[in-house]
Amino acid sequence: MPLVNTKKMFEMAYKNGYAIGAFNVNNMEITQGIMDACAEENAPLILQVSRGARKYAKIGYLNKIIEAAMDEYPDLPLATNLDHGDSFDTCKQFVEDGFTSVMIDASGEPFEENIRITKEVVDFAHKHNVVVEAELGQLGGIEEDVVGVDADDVSKHLADPEQVQEFVEKTGVDSLAVAIGTSHGAYKFKKEPKLAFDVLEEIEKRLPGFPLVMHGSSSVLKEFKDLINKYGGNMPDAMGVPEDSISKAAKMGICKVNIDTDLRMALTAKIREVFATKPEEFDPRKYLGPGREAIKKMVKHKLHVLGCAGKADECK
Ligand code: G3H
Ligand code: 13P
Ligand code: ZN
Repeated sequence: MPLVNTKKMFEMAYKNGYAIGAFNVNNMEITQGIMDACAEENAPLILQVSRGARKYAKIGYLNKIIEAAMDEYPDLPLATNLDHGDSFDTCKQFVEDGFTSVMIDASGEPFEENIRITKEVVDFAHKHNVVVEAELGQLGGIEEDVVGVDADDVSKHLADPEQVQEFVEKTGVDSLAVAIGTSHGAYKFKKEPKLAFDVLEEIEKRLPGFPLVMHGSSSVLKEFKDLINKYGGNMPDAMGVPEDSISKAAKMGICKVNIDTDLRMALTAKIREVFATKPEEFDPRKYLGPGREAIKKMVKHKLHVLGCAGKADECK
């Protein structure tokens, strides 16, 4: 089947209390690991590309990799999303490049300006049957090309439930990312992980039936953190979102869950392991291959955490 936008996926996810995995892709092995997992679990999915990914791999290559993935698994409902679009022009470019969903992230702007920019993107994207995700509140942490608030400051920048209805009505946006205490990257919490479920509950009440999105949703799996630290890495304090919190959020209107860090860590852990245990190895297939396999295994597990395993058919 051709690429789909996220409308049907989100409708079914909302109705049936699960979330769709939105996985960041930067190269062939990451894409293949994700696709193989979703095919084995018969799960709908979103592949997303950040501006950093576009800069690294070039959009032409990423599009061809995604096209090859579709050819290999023609029965899977697959949407493509621009992750953290920074401007109307970036969103327009991705729409013209054939993406079926774009995120405009003007969450760092004042509320009225966020509305203005988002609406401009919505008006353009909808003419092309492309859906739009926007964001309210600010995530913590700092990633390349994605600036967030300082981790200590996260609670002051949560989405404001009082703004959500006005924002959705005035922009016509299709889904909304809400900051509820997560952050990008591998260091999400200093002490105990804690999400603002009270804020999420309040938002869901004000936007019944409307799909919400959770960024910064990697859980920093112990298996990969331990391997990285065992084989020369240095991320002892890495901490992610507990998986039971993700499953809980998926039943509270969160229809899209963004995962990048867990993919990076799975690949890095396996590459480190091969380099450390087989120092004579220099064939990239011998370390990227195990990395791809680790991603596949990890994503298969995630699909059960999200509850979307086995849901491909109802999302068509
Ligand atoms: O939201 C951030 C994603 O992990 C993408 O990160 O901009 O380094 O590709 P990136
Ligand atoms: P993680 O860093 O938790 O994987 O979040 C990724 C993300 O939100 C991409 O937009
Ligand atoms: Zn994000």
